[in-house]
Amino acid sequence: MRHEDILPSQDERIEDEVITNHSGNETFQSIAARRLSRRSVVKGGLTTAAAFMTPSLMANTLGEFKPELVSPKFRAPLMDFQPVTLADAAASDGRVPLISPDYEYQTLIPWGTPLKAGIPEYDGDPDRRPTADEQAFQVGIGHDGMWLFPETAGRRRSNTRGVLCINHEFGRNSHVTGKSGPENLEDVRLSQHAHGVSVVAIEESGGTWEVVPDTRNRRVHVNTPVTFSGPVADSPVGQALLQLDRGETRGTVNNCSSGKTPWGTYLTCEENFNGYFGNAYVQALFPAILRTVTADNPGASEQEIAGLVNARLNEIFSGFATEEQLRYGFSVAGFGYGWERFDERFDLSQQNGEDNRFGWVVEIDPQDGSQVPVKRTALGRFKHEGAELTVGRGGRVVVYMGDDQRFDYIYKYVSDDNWRSMIAKGVSPLDEGKLYVARFYEGGVGEWLELTIDNPTLARRFEDQAEVLTYARVAADLLGATPMDRPEWTSVAPDGYCYCTLTNNSRRTEADAANPLAPNSDGHIIRWRDTDQFVGTVFEWDIFLFAEDTHGTEESFSDPDGIWADPDGRLFIETDGGQKDGLQNQLLVSNTNTGEIRRLLTGVNGDEITGLTVTPDRETMFVNTQHPGNGNPELTNFPAEDGSGRIPRDCTFVIRRKGGGVVGT
Ligand code: FEO
Ligand code: CA
Ligand code: CA
Repeated sequence: MRHEDILPSQDERIEDEVITNHSGNETFQSIAARRLSRRSVVKGGLTTAAAFMTPSLMANTLGEFKPELVSPKFRAPLMDFQPVTLADAAASDGRVPLISPDYEYQTLIPWGTPLKAGIPEYDGDPDRRPTADEQAFQVGIGHDGMWLFPETAGRRRSNTRGVLCINHEFGRNSHVTGKSGPENLEDVRLSQHAHGVSVVAIEESGGTWEVVPDTRNRRVHVNTPVTFSGPVADSPVGQALLQLDRGETRGTVNNCSSGKTPWGTYLTCEENFNGYFGNAYVQALFPAILRTVTADNPGASEQEIAGLVNARLNEIFSGFATEEQLRYGFSVAGFGYGWERFDERFDLSQQNGEDNRFGWVVEIDPQDGSQVPVKRTALGRFKHEGAELTVGRGGRVVVYMGDDQRFDYIYKYVSDDNWRSMIAKGVSPLDEGKLYVARFYEGGVGEWLELTIDNPTLARRFEDQAEVLTYARVAADLLGATPMDRPEWTSVAPDGYCYCTLTNNSRRTEADAANPLAPNSDGHIIRWRDTDQFVGTVFEWDIFLFAEDTHGTEESFSDPDGIWADPDGRLFIETDGGQKDGLQNQLLVSNTNTGEIRRLLTGVNGDEITGLTVTPDRETMFVNTQHPGNGNPELTNFPAEDGSGRIPRDCTFVIRRKGGGVVGT
């Protein structure tokens, strides 16, 4: 039995399923169950949320919104393209994507694309991996959230040239290095450099998009210098928690979804950061514990021994770990990346504050290749799936954020003042503001609970606001936030509704036909609308749809993850998980007025579809395939030609309607 055999599975998607919230707060399911009768929530037949509101709440809410869901230009069918059908999927071997016959795609920036002269391209050759130094200047792996920043000339925004900021969420060691675990620091550095963010100037020429040389092109990865800003950086308590007196601060990791600010910067969100840490001290006890457990359990199978050893190691780890580390899901060996074995930054036994330096939203300036990325601590520390920005009453910037873990929460941040006046004063709108967490009530009403040290409940537990923000999950537990079914992306529609994907809940023991969401193995999409033009602390909510209601139909999908509400009333849905009806993961378009869903694209074996951004005219859309084939060339060689033997590489699809037109029509 090898050391690696006993380490926890290296899979963020399994990690998302782990429950670290033991606060006992009333779950969303139990609230929804009481409110909804299973079939009364029919997509396209939405109950008016206002009907659930008290008159005073309505007075507070309505009138503030000016619904403009369907623009006059697109009042006629929002989408009339021919979808990818279940029959198409059944006829496919899944080695290449399928797209609507009315659309076409090209691939762009696969993992290994060089961003600097003199750096070779990695082409998926299994016998020649990138070096760590090469990877530091090549597009990373695990393509995820992204935004296009179009080139501007005066008021004109280009539809053919811009800077793409794209997240590289994760890449298994087996995919990136071809090894189950690192054998030396070089392996660790290669893995670290494959994570992070790419900033890439791209241009369309002759109908094809390509990378162009540009001083803004760069990689931000696990070893890139970063700074901290906001309440945690300003407080001695926060500085101590992050050990900022140690000097240099570096890196971002597990960059999942992302946001775009009105002032033109990119926000990258650190999700499952816990999985990159391990405790080398506890791991070193492995041989001794294996000997003891083997001696104490004669006749036990290797699997049983492994389970017992793991349990013992975790018990010892828990004895060393803080309550907060356990709440954030740190463990003996994380996802098994093994970085802690060669890079002590990621060794929890060093107690160096590195664990508290991750789990933040990080601001990157796409226009300045030398800008040092800034971790904005006012937005709190949790497993940030994404950051959806909108501008609320008085020009305040509002950020909606999901914490993707079973029974974790939905958060919102509101800047203290008008974003323009804050910037004019030299203050970041993301440094001074309030952080809230959502509580959903029966009757379609909810409340945003402020995470503030001024709340006596939090003042009893925390020293100051910096500690509240660093341990936002713990603070949210104490305030009684509503545990959700893995909140993934959020997107604000033009009518003020914020849509949020709740991707699934793997618990299957409480199968109850009368309970609308348990078991909830396929996920649903919730939506809410805040009072007071996004800045209020009360909201109305309802459920847009349940994925399982689509099964067995041409609208079939499961596990909604990426989401984008376009200005016309379409909702683009991307999936990450086992699809039903023989489908690969997919990109769908739904009509929020009618609930109709059409399938625009399906991915390849083993991948998920994620990331979504468009040109200003919306005639070009960028979408990603992440972990195609899970790195296994026997499943697919995409984007290489079928049968080439190349390792499949994450890449971006550039999608256009044949003959032109807004994507989705
Ligand atoms: Fe990074 Fe929850 O997906
Ligand atoms: Ca996701
Ligand atoms: Ca997911």
